[in-house]
Amino acid sequence: MANLATGTVTLVFTDIEGSTRLLRELGGRYEQVLEDQRRLIRAAFGARNGSEVDTAGDGLFYAFPRAREALLAAVEGQQALGRHDWPLPVRVRMGLHTGEPMSSATGFVGLDVHRASRICAAAHGGQILVSQTTRDLASDLPGEIVVLDLGEHTLKDLPAPEHLFQVLAPDLLREFPPLRSLDSRPNNLPRQLTTFVGREREIGDAKRILASAPLLTLTGPGGVGKTRLAIEIAGELLDEFDEGIWFVDLGVLTDPDFVVPAIASAIGVMPAPGQPILERVIDHLRGRRVLMVFDNCEHLLDPTARTVDTLLRSCRLLRVVATSREGLAIAGETVRPVPSLSVPDPETAAPDELSQYESIRLFLERAMAASSEFRITDRNAAAIAQICRRLDGVPLALELAAARVRALPVEQIAARLDDRFRLLTGSSRISVPRHQTLRQTIDWSHDLLGEDERAVFRRLAVFVGGASLEAAEAVCAGPPVDPDTVLDVLSRLVDKSLLVADTEENEARYRQLETVRQYARDRLVESGEARDTLSRQRDWYVAMVAQAEPEFFRGVESGASLGRLDREHDNLRAVLQWSLDEPGQERQGLQLAAGLWRFWEIHGHLSEGRAWLEHFLNVTEGEVSALRADVYTGAGILAFMLGDQAAASVLHERSLELHRGRDPGQIAEPAADLQALQVEALGPIELIGSSGHVTEVGQRPRNTPLVADGPGDGQGLVQELCGLFGFALTPEHDSQAVERECLAPAVPRRSKRGDPLL
Ligand SMILES: Nc1ncnc2c1ncn2[C@@H]1O[C@H](COP(=O)(O)OP(=O)(O)O)[C@@H](O)[C@H]1O
Ligand SMILES: [Mg+2]
Repeated sequence: MANLATGTVTLVFTDIEGSTRLLRELGGRYEQVLEDQRRLIRAAFGARNGSEVDTAGDGLFYAFPRAREALLAAVEGQQALGRHDWPLPVRVRMGLHTGEPMSSATGFVGLDVHRASRICAAAHGGQILVSQTTRDLASDLPGEIVVLDLGEHTLKDLPAPEHLFQVLAPDLLREFPPLRSLDSRPNNLPRQLTTFVGREREIGDAKRILASAPLLTLTGPGGVGKTRLAIEIAGELLDEFDEGIWFVDLGVLTDPDFVVPAIASAIGVMPAPGQPILERVIDHLRGRRVLMVFDNCEHLLDPTARTVDTLLRSCRLLRVVATSREGLAIAGETVRPVPSLSVPDPETAAPDELSQYESIRLFLERAMAASSEFRITDRNAAAIAQICRRLDGVPLALELAAARVRALPVEQIAARLDDRFRLLTGSSRISVPRHQTLRQTIDWSHDLLGEDERAVFRRLAVFVGGASLEAAEAVCAGPPVDPDTVLDVLSRLVDKSLLVADTEENEARYRQLETVRQYARDRLVESGEARDTLSRQRDWYVAMVAQAEPEFFRGVESGASLGRLDREHDNLRAVLQWSLDEPGQERQGLQLAAGLWRFWEIHGHLSEGRAWLEHFLNVTEGEVSALRADVYTGAGILAFMLGDQAAASVLHERSLELHRGRDPGQIAEPAADLQALQVEALGPIELIGSSGHVTEVGQRPRNTPLVADGPGDGQGLVQELCGLFGFALTPEHDSQAVERECLAPAVPRRSKRGDPLL
């Protein structure tokens, strides 16, 4: 390798488009094409002072001291490639980014290198893409070169969208399809905030398997990298599955009945009356090239296996990647255990060979992210190799150890881990079983925490779906943690890799990896604080839902509050489940469910929502209250929308029975904002109207001078009305009677302004 520039450099990646196709079509002549391509690029890049860092597959990786020279070299390289006489069209994509990567014995590492390579991957053959920094630094360009703004794009493994630019120059292609970014293909792959390392073989394998087999199951113990690998495989296949790649986390579900609804919700299939949701999902997937990723299948192995089996039998083009501690054992499945990352032998590996091992690369990436001064040196290389070997190349264990480099030199980390593992095996030479490695490393990392950090760490375990800062503050504070310090403690846990912070959206979210969360949950149970923490969490969500619900039908606010509930849905499910399971919590559960049914209705979680409502109605049997009346109404409406009319009318009848016993004045709660009320009340009527059963009764209330007076919250009235409409809408009932019985007592008052409400 030539002397590498240090400090600020411009990194250039190149890659041949469609190399497998070229190889297939050219056979033996491909080698020559590859060679010519390299020669032309090397000549152009060398002439502009670039140094070659690496040859990556069919592409090249160069570094330039100046952004302008790099950009001109890319243009000249493309022009030279364009002039060459190829046996078949050869197009090369190029990506440029300027940054300050760290140089190590074998080249550059760090986020800037990934960024440059991801930018290259987003380009099409013949296209030059540059990052914002490169564009800003490449001044003084000749007049015929123009830099075109392509806007922001989300690239794989990069925490924030990148602002990208295309270089236009004479003789270069100008027109390209949309960039190969995550935004250009329908998918819901979770954004990854850290760099990805290695696994080329596993990814290549997976692609080959999925070309013929419908189901690939990645197995292995927690922390070995199943989820990350599945996401990475899916990301590599975005081009092939252009009708959608959908990620479904089954680990957060509490009930086998929710597997199919969770899939429906991920692919955006709304339930329709009278048709089982599984059928709708199949209808949607049949004939489409879609890849689904089912994460954490072990959690609900049997129902998941059955569902995947049905889907694959009915949808020929569907492909599935599953992650699980064990295989699904269904036809068409290929099981691939996920190996640990490759590890060096600390006794024999030479320091400058170390970075070819995946575990070393991961450790270095994370250590440098934790402490910008961190470097691998001749002195510490052996200790790093020892850590990687000790931790068996288990990625999560490596991340936990690397996060400590800020406070401890690697030699000390190695020694302490050694002590711990020796306790287990009685010898430093015998290796600990792999499933024990992670557990021991988490233990070690946990032992190093302060009291307040431990308390927040274990309490966070109640958030299966991650926590906003406010939620964490409300639920995790309490002795020994002062509420004002929660944010600070969260940041310290993030620094120690025991917590992941996603701060890119306008609201920060904190989440524990599933394996870490399970560990934290055990600590929480041990501490005897589980019940208190769960009740605090429940109270927080009851309050949040109570605040959100009145906003559902209020224009702009409704989007925001529905979105908030959607983000919290996994946590809400867990809280509901706990309220069902835990004696004495039914009432609060009922209240929560009552506040959620409109959300379930609007977001199409009909069968799941109905199941929760009915569960809570059952466990509160005998209670006469407006709350239960409302929950009956909700269950009735969801049943109605699911096409179960018989059940809907029974449920509405129950609701009516409970309403009958109540004071009419209470039903016609005064409305402060007549305008808003009108909108709110019409929303659900039209929603139900669109399913085709409504029109007669649905129209009637509009002509009925239904009025309320005085200040106050119109929400109560609207809720009752929804219930009454829901009742009125079931065909078995005579609408006149409904109006007489239900609307009449609600209607008699006139507003002071005398405006009709509906
Ligand atoms: N190849 C890899 N490159 C970078 N990070 C990885 C890699 N594999 C796993 N990780 C990281 O290690 C941690 C554990 O991986 P994860 O996929 O959650 O494991 P599992 O699903 O098997 O429990 C995560 O933080 C993940 O991002
Ligand atoms: Mg996982």
